Amino acid sequence: MTGELSPIDKAKFVAAKRAVDFVEDGMKVGLGTGSTAAWMVRCLGERVREEGLRIKGVPTSARTAMLAREVGIDVISLDQARWLDVTIDGADEFDGEFNLIKGGGGALLQEKIVATASDRMIVITDASKEVETLGAFPLPVEVIPFGWQTSKALLEELLISLDVMGRETTLRMNGAVAYVTDEGNHILDLHLNRIGNARQLAMALNQIPGVVENGLFMDICDTVVIGYGDGRVETR
Ligand code: 5RP
Repeated sequence: MTGELSPIDKAKFVAAKRAVDFVEDGMKVGLGTGSTAAWMVRCLGERVREEGLRIKGVPTSARTAMLAREVGIDVISLDQARWLDVTIDGADEFDGEFNLIKGGGGALLQEKIVATASDRMIVITDASKEVETLGAFPLPVEVIPFGWQTSKALLEELLISLDVMGRETTLRMNGAVAYVTDEGNHILDLHLNRIGNARQLAMALNQIPGVVENGLFMDICDTVVIGYGDGRVETR
């Protein structure tokens, strides 16, 4: 499954492999999105095929759903599952309290809904994603296409009123056209540098008309599994 991996892919792989040890027979599992989560889906698929592990997987994107089916995981919707035992997903940044920035891969809305509907959320990551203060990674905010420029202007006003350091907001593009999420929305990336009060910002962002969700995951993740390029793994 792995072949010769670069140190970064090795770090992602070993974190993913360790995290799937938390999955037990009969569990309903939220399946994250992104390159690290893709390793986790492959590792889970291996357990399904080789150990006969019986699980139901709830994917957080069309891409993950396709991969999960390919590797033999029984895929169901969140509405069928209602509540999940665990969600395993990647992150773009995590801090010392396990608060996260997610959405670099554009799937933050389904990811947040699925993680919130789980008994626990395990983040799998390489060490480069650890930060003291969230915000160096651009914060993704999902907005509906209708009037997105108005939402962007309101968002910029909010950043000024909260005295956030960086205030540039950019529409995420897919080549020459605006990026479209699985839910048919657009993403505004907020280049903030440093988020002093992430809790306040997360709540304020979702008050803006047109904003569907933001990529700050506060108090959702309880475990972080960090992989290293030399094959070491640390669980916190
Ligand atoms: C997708 C996400 C991803 O989990 C995040 O972007 C990390 O991705 P990767 O594992 O590829 O670095 O939030 O919306």
